[in-house]
Amino acid sequence: MDLEQIKELDKKYYFGVFGERMPVCFVRGEGCRLYDTEGREYTDFFGGIAVNVLGHGNARLKAALHAQVDAVVHTSSIYYIEQQARLAALLCENSCMDKAFFCNSGAEANEGAIKLALKYSYEKGEKRKKIVSAKNSFHGRTMYTLFATGQEKFHIPYAPLPADFVHIPYGDIGALFETVDGQTCAVLMETVQGEGGVIPASPGYMQAVRDACDKAGALLILDEIQTGLGRTGKLFSYMHYGMEPDIMTLAKALGGGVPIGAILAKQHAADAFKKGDHGSTFGGNPLACAAGIAVMEELLDTGVIENGAKMGGLLKASLEGLMQRLPAIKSVRGLGLMLGVELEESHKAADAARAMLEKGFVIGTAEENTLRLTPPLIITKAETHKMLEALEQVLSGSA
Ligand SMILES: Cc1ncc(COP(=O)(O)O)c(C=O)c1O
Repeated sequence: MDLEQIKELDKKYYFGVFGERMPVCFVRGEGCRLYDTEGREYTDFFGGIAVNVLGHGNARLKAALHAQVDAVVHTSSIYYIEQQARLAALLCENSCMDKAFFCNSGAEANEGAIKLALKYSYEKGEKRKKIVSAKNSFHGRTMYTLFATGQEKFHIPYAPLPADFVHIPYGDIGALFETVDGQTCAVLMETVQGEGGVIPASPGYMQAVRDACDKAGALLILDEIQTGLGRTGKLFSYMHYGMEPDIMTLAKALGGGVPIGAILAKQHAADAFKKGDHGSTFGGNPLACAAGIAVMEELLDTGVIENGAKMGGLLKASLEGLMQRLPAIKSVRGLGLMLGVELEESHKAADAARAMLEKGFVIGTAEENTLRLTPPLIITKAETHKMLEALEQVLSGSA
């Protein structure tokens, strides 16, 4: 099919939730390159919204998937699953967490993490309902799916509502200590707000989040869905901040593009879920977990995270250099290879991303005015250099 035929079919049959999409359909990928229906080549600086940490067509990931497809794709978590157990071990042994549970997306991981925190409080006899999170944060798109389930026995520990959600200004330590109190069940935070504009927390703020939780007896849920798995230059972003969460959620990069999410928890929190309290048909199936194992092994064995950290530093410094020359750039923010370029009001990020696409570079946006760069961690200096040249042309109006 050519692009016009795909667009026609999409317009007729797909929900309109993505509006007018970027005018391209990628059909093949290799390393940091993507190819469209017409065979045109692009360099990927977005990684499918911070998913493709290993780039496209990674040999270990492909081999693991082929082997798993040949063996068995799906069984059920009613039975033991070797890949599930091995991936859980890899994640726990390389983080501060003790237990894992696999699901299928980031939203599902956060929904499960909130449910776990509520159950933890219920088990303690406190039944706290308040969940504190930050303004401008993004944690997913599910609603109270539990309450949509028409069986009362599943509602009892969480009734009458799943939670009372309170939002505080990100980075405001005063508001944090004022809000996180004896009624607070959990605080849900990102270390770098991704969708909200690529805004990293200061080291002091994340420590304060931990302290506020400890003082109030609340759990800290860290949403590492975008920041986790090497994106920020360390395996998990909490490692930059000298603090540890009680619960951590993952998705995006975990399967290298194969859908999988995870709730990780320290023992005290994980223990709150008893038999029958949570589950998933697909979550942690052999195929998704085989992908997760390959991604984790590649991240741990090959120096790809170190490359990402180095390239992130270089790219950030180059963007800051560009900012000195280009009035269109207001600020450059981020950690590792999770970078945001905030544009002046008169520049729309979506227009710049479209102009970059025409030049053969895939970049993302966050909010109206921020360009988002989340390339595969294998990106090279040469690829970065070319992208920066194109960006300078686009933002200086000499495109
Ligand atoms: C920090 C964060 N949490 C949760 C989500 C939701 O993940 P998913 O789209 O897989 O449900 C996202 C997605 O962008 C995210 O960036």
